[in-house]
Amino acid sequence: QKHGQLKDKRIVISAGGTVEAIDPVRYISNRSSGKMGYALARAAAEQGADVTLVSATTQLPDPVGVTTIHIQSAQELSEQMFAMLPEADAIIMAAAVSDYRMSQTAENKLKKQDSGQLHLTLVENPDILAQLGSAKTNQYLVGFAAETQNLMTYAQNKLKKKNADMLVANDVSKDQVGFGYDTNQVTILTKDNEPESLPLQSKITLAREIMKKISVAING
Ligand code: PMT
Repeated sequence: QKHGQLKDKRIVISAGGTVEAIDPVRYISNRSSGKMGYALARAAAEQGADVTLVSATTQLPDPVGVTTIHIQSAQELSEQMFAMLPEADAIIMAAAVSDYRMSQTAENKLKKQDSGQLHLTLVENPDILAQLGSAKTNQYLVGFAAETQNLMTYAQNKLKKKNADMLVANDVSKDQVGFGYDTNQVTILTKDNEPESLPLQSKITLAREIMKKISVAING
């Protein structure tokens, strides 16, 4: 029997850095550890939600009381998120999604080139958050913005362009903020309220605060 602010709510959360294969042994990815998304999944489960975590990392243990689905590429992530969109009350895109993938994954291990150069052709991945933003009906959609400059300007643009209800902006050029750390410092933007800057804190306490705001928003 579940209790809490998010009892009977279905929450889908993405976490980690997507993995785009170059060939059978190499890939393109990023520095996301998955810690932020896993903390959100834990915090949502603590509040009684029915949580599905779509994870691009294998470095963290599956959170207790959460359904965890492991994926690698942005395309696989997209498929899972869209499969769960109709049933979801809230969707949180904490994953660091690769904006590009190989135009074609090499079937065999790439060999060293005599020219001393190797050219890879990359094509754009779908913007999953933006596509969820266009497709959603009454799901509460939360995105992140990881920036190294002009945090607020870029974050405001992402909130609008991707039709998110909430955007969690982190300046990942700062120490202890964002990729890999156990701590984070964010500013929360919503359509209706003034941006709110939260103090540097552990990802789990921050996750609890974000989930509290989401529960207020979806419980009306
Ligand atoms: O995983 P950790 O090590 O704990 O680090 C946490 C984090 C820094 C990864 C996290 O706090 C964070 O900021 N996640 C989003 C990272 C990111 O890719 O941000 P972005 O500004 O490039 O993308 C904006 C939003 O669009 C994000 O919600 C992202 O999930 C989404 N996106 C981006 C590109 C794409 N092709 N599809 C997407 O859905």
